[in-house]
This record gives sequence, structure tokens and C-alpha cells, in this order.
Amino acid sequence: MSVVEIVDHPLIQHKISLLRDRNTGTKEFRDLVSEVAMLLCYEATRDLPTEEVEVETPIALARTKVLAGRKLALVPILRAGLGMVDGMLSMIPAAKVGHIGLYRDEETLKPVEYYCKLPSDIDEREVLVLDPMLATGGSASDAITQIKKRGAKHIKFIGLIAAPEGMKALHEAHPDVDIYVGTLDERLNDQGYIVPGLGDAGDRIFGTK
Ligand code: PRP
Ligand code: URA
Repeated sequence: MSVVEIVDHPLIQHKISLLRDRNTGTKEFRDLVSEVAMLLCYEATRDLPTEEVEVETPIALARTKVLAGRKLALVPILRAGLGMVDGMLSMIPAAKVGHIGLYRDEETLKPVEYYCKLPSDIDEREVLVLDPMLATGGSASDAITQIKKRGAKHIKFIGLIAAPEGMKALHEAHPDVDIYVGTLDERLNDQGYIVPGLGDAGDRIFGTK
């Protein structure tokens, strides 16, 4: 059974409210995306396997736990997913980072792929696909199809804001993929934007509008 989780934590809700505000400037927006990614990472990695080790503290020998087994890869969907990478890496610094470039055709709302570079051992890694916005779900579904074609078997999607349409589409296209998002919004508008959402995530992170 895969996980579909809205990570309903007060810190995440607070920071997403600040992200939604049209008056939040580029620097603050970028910092907040990174911080929310860090908080979502905490929840999405809850099931990572651990193993017991012995460590000498200044007081005594401790039997304690460290991460074991599966290695991680982050795959941000360009552009906006890039904004989540630093926050995630601050929690899991040993993760490798791949990139997948997709943009939505403004007319058809279908994703157009223009770049894909993944770690060569992607088939051995747990892959965390990052994109702040899950709108129609087309970009995330397509990215995950490409990542699976290159051999990945364990994939999670991590996003900040989802529309019900995108959650449904992604879960139907990839029922094996765990989905973690910060909040579930009302709907999509006629242009495929999430309502109320936060606008265009890429433009707000990179200051391109
Ligand atoms: C945005 C967002 C997602 C996609 C979501 O990217 O970052 O990748 O739209 O929409 P979907 O769920 O309907 O596919 P955009 O296409 O604006 O590209 P950009 O990040 O390069 O601006
Ligand atoms: N992409 C965005 O950046 N925002 C939306 O609301 C939908 C797609």
C-alpha cells in the first residue's frame, strides 16, 4: 500500500500561508520553499531503515541507531523543484542529485521534456522527486515514468501544494509511488493554475515575472 499524505504540521501550514501571499518577495519566497522542503523531508524519510551501532559517549557506551541500507537520490523537476533541493540536502547531505527538465505547454497543459540526467546507480536508490506544485499532475507523472524507465523502483513524490486533480492523476498513473504534500487546495482554474495556490512557483522562486 502506498502512502498519500498531507503533512498537516503547523510549521508547514504557517510557511505555506506566507508563500501564498502575493506580497512575499523573491528572497523570502526562496527561503520558505527550502524550509518547507526540509520539513516535508523529515516526514517522507520516516520509514528509512536504521541499524544499531555502538558509540562511546563521554559517559558510557551507547547502543544507538544510524541510517542503514538504501541510498537516496533527489530529482527536482526543473525549474521550480530546484528550490527544494537545498532544504532536502540539509537533512540528507549524502543524497545524490539528478535533474529532469519539463515545462507545461501553456495551451495543452501537457508536459514537454527537455532534459534528464540521473545518477548512474539510480536503480539502487530510493528516489525523492521534488516539485512544489502538483496541478494537473502531468509533469510529476511524466517525470516519474522517465525515472522508472531508467530503472528506479522506489520512488516518492514530495510537493508543497497539490490540487485534487493532480493528486488523483499521479496516484492513478503511479499507484506504487508515495505522495507527500504540504496542503491540498480546492481546484484548478481554466489556465491549469491551482486555486488558491501561490501563482507560478518557478517565476516566484527565480524572480522571472
Ligand atoms: C510548474 C510546476 C510543475 C508544473 C505543475 O512548472 O513547477 O512542474 O508546473 O503542473 P502540472 O501538474 O499541471 O504538470 P512549469 O511548467 O511552470 O515550468 P517551470 O518550473 O520551468 O516554470
Ligand atoms: N504550476 C505552478 O507553478 N503553479 C500552479 O498553480 C500550477 C502549475
